[in-house]
Amino acid sequence: MNEHNHHSMRPYLGKLAGVKELGTDIRLFQIELMDAVGKEAFANYKPGQFGFVSAFGEGEAPFGITSIPAQDGLLEFAIHRHPHGKTTNGLHNLSVGDPIGVRGPLGNNFPMDDIKGKDIIVLGGGIGGAPLRPVIKTVMENRDDYGSMTILWAARNPGLLIFTDEYEEWRNTPQTELHLTVDNKPPDWDEGDEGLITTLLEKLNPSPENAITITCGPPIMIHFVSLTLKKLGFTLDQMLVTLEGRMHCGIGKCGRCNLGDIFVCTDGPVFYHSEVAELLESFL
Ligand code: FES
Repeated sequence: MNEHNHHSMRPYLGKLAGVKELGTDIRLFQIELMDAVGKEAFANYKPGQFGFVSAFGEGEAPFGITSIPAQDGLLEFAIHRHPHGKTTNGLHNLSVGDPIGVRGPLGNNFPMDDIKGKDIIVLGGGIGGAPLRPVIKTVMENRDDYGSMTILWAARNPGLLIFTDEYEEWRNTPQTELHLTVDNKPPDWDEGDEGLITTLLEKLNPSPENAITITCGPPIMIHFVSLTLKKLGFTLDQMLVTLEGRMHCGIGKCGRCNLGDIFVCTDGPVFYHSEVAELLESFL
């Protein structure tokens, strides 16, 4: 085991520098790493990578990183509180200033260099939008390197749409569109459509030419999105997915993330759909 792996096994000490409400039971955790080793480990992480976040004494769990390396050095995770989850409850009970642990960065990443020059279509379902925010931010910060960006953002209800306070900035970015949809549209909400993300996708009917899609959400959503994309003329090689929702131990030990021979945590979490399509179907 090399030095790097050794370090990724134990948490770096962080401090909860900020908390923002993102939606019903969903919070953004902004973490400042306290020691030089941790800061160095997270100096150059990539979109799509994940990390373990721990509430000391309560437990730790893997979450997709939702920030990109920035001047302020804050590392961000969007975390949904599960009613019976010891770790997520422990994290939601923390206050600004409290110690918090982080391990990582782990996993592969979205090939942001390989997809330069392409039209990018981002599809996020619920909390699945969190690991896609680094993709959106990377395109925004390097706007001329990419073609158009079309964001499809879905949730069960408006209260579960995350990063609402950034929508205006996304919409004001050149060559960028944001489209929202919710399963159940309350009468007083008029910011988007009612229905599934696949219905919205068919309505928008984006051209597959020189385009790449990036999807994150529950496996069933990823499956139906890929079927719709195929109908619209996209090939499986044009579809990137992150399966980070399948992870448990995150380090190849528990065997719970496997799809056939593939371990999501050590081989992924980012894949081209062509690599996982058949395997994914058998797990629906
Ligand atoms: S999450 Fe445990 S082996 Fe992959």
